[in-house]
Amino acid sequence: MSPKLQKTLELFQEAKKYIPFGVNSNFRYWGDEYTLVITRGEGAYIWDADENRYIDYRLGFGPIILGHAYPTVTDRVAQEIRKGTLFAWTTPLEIELAKRITRMTGVEKVRLSNTGTEATMHALRIARAYTDREGFIKFEGQYHGMHDYVLFSTASAPRGVLGARKSPINVQASSGIPEDIQQYVYNVPYNDFKMLEKTVKESWSDLAAIIVEPIMGNAGAVMPKPGWLELIRELCDKYDIVLIFDEVKTGFRIANGGAQEYFGVKADLVTYAKALGNGFPIAAIGGKEEVMSVVQPGQVALGGTYSGNVVGAAAANATLELLEKEPILETIARRGERLMKGIDEILTRAGIPHVLTGVPSMFGVLLGRDTPPYDFRDYQDADEVAYQYLVMELIERGVLPDVDDREPWFLSYSHDDTVIDETLNAFEDAVQALTKKRPYIVEGRMLVD
Ligand SMILES: Cc1ncc(COP(=O)(O)O)c(C=O)c1O
Repeated sequence: MSPKLQKTLELFQEAKKYIPFGVNSNFRYWGDEYTLVITRGEGAYIWDADENRYIDYRLGFGPIILGHAYPTVTDRVAQEIRKGTLFAWTTPLEIELAKRITRMTGVEKVRLSNTGTEATMHALRIARAYTDREGFIKFEGQYHGMHDYVLFSTASAPRGVLGARKSPINVQASSGIPEDIQQYVYNVPYNDFKMLEKTVKESWSDLAAIIVEPIMGNAGAVMPKPGWLELIRELCDKYDIVLIFDEVKTGFRIANGGAQEYFGVKADLVTYAKALGNGFPIAAIGGKEEVMSVVQPGQVALGGTYSGNVVGAAAANATLELLEKEPILETIARRGERLMKGIDEILTRAGIPHVLTGVPSMFGVLLGRDTPPYDFRDYQDADEVAYQYLVMELIERGVLPDVDDREPWFLSYSHDDTVIDETLNAFEDAVQALTKKRPYIVEGRMLVD
């Protein structure tokens, strides 16, 4: 970690006096010595309170698709908010945005909300109302936000607690969740064709939905096996189950039409957030007209004071307008490919066992293994300690991915070729420093000193 942290650490101590653990989301706590206080961002860069500059690959856990403080977006927001921010009436901005989202993604109807958590919570309710069933399947290691129903067997589950593959245990990710709620949750290992078929065949009459992150964006960017998403679609069709794609991370990032377009599989409901607003709080629940038709007064409750507010809607319109007009995501993908290839070559030259997972705009770097994982259990074999050491070396050199290898590297449009070059130079230096300090890393698993 950068040795030049002084003001940052002082500020963090002050934060701890007033904010539990000094952070407004538990995932942001890296320990007392390493949790940064960030004062500004521009393009691909962010600065801490000591004016250390970092190339940011966390991008706020994924939303920043264009770059920090991207002028097209901030100018549009500034312009709109002078006219008021909240009216509790429909605005032209909301209409424009709904049109854009339906055009880009193929969903037929869309409602706005503010966070991914709200979006998946609403999507599950719609699915239950539509099917008159209460249970749902989610996949181990997948994260769908902070509401009670989905906080089971997320990527926070430690190794060895998930139970036997054929009879998975629902592992609760937090205290404070009513115990009975887990009766609605069926966790299945990702990419496990047999277990999915078995679970659906046995329990379809209780299943309102299958909710899935098409790429495991919270656990090492594990990809779906060929035919996997198609099988989920097929089973949902056969048993009248609502298929929910949770595209909070993949939406407006891996393709303009998200995972539905990328993998060529259509869901019944889709949730979006993150890249939709380039860092402004906005989310959406979209879907087929027929499924969304239950959302109406007296039927399914879906709303919130700030849903569709001017700030988020203006940001999303500006972001999507750019995505539609310019080859933004294609450019990010091309640069991301270069970065992935460069990282792969450096690690190969150093003899460090590794595999890169995911897609160029959100990819994982897993150490201590050379084949891609296919589910969360398999992912857990990666050497996260070696990865943490590597990231610490990177941060010292001004490159900031998440220290946790579950969290992918995210790229934005502002990560241009110069930024990629800078990153690869730092990566080369970081790997050399790491192998000097810890030569045994090349022999395989590193484990703790
Ligand atoms: C796939 C997925 N769904 C839902 C959420 C929850 O979104 P939010 O943090 O905006 O509530 C996240 C957050 O990381 C996510 O990755």
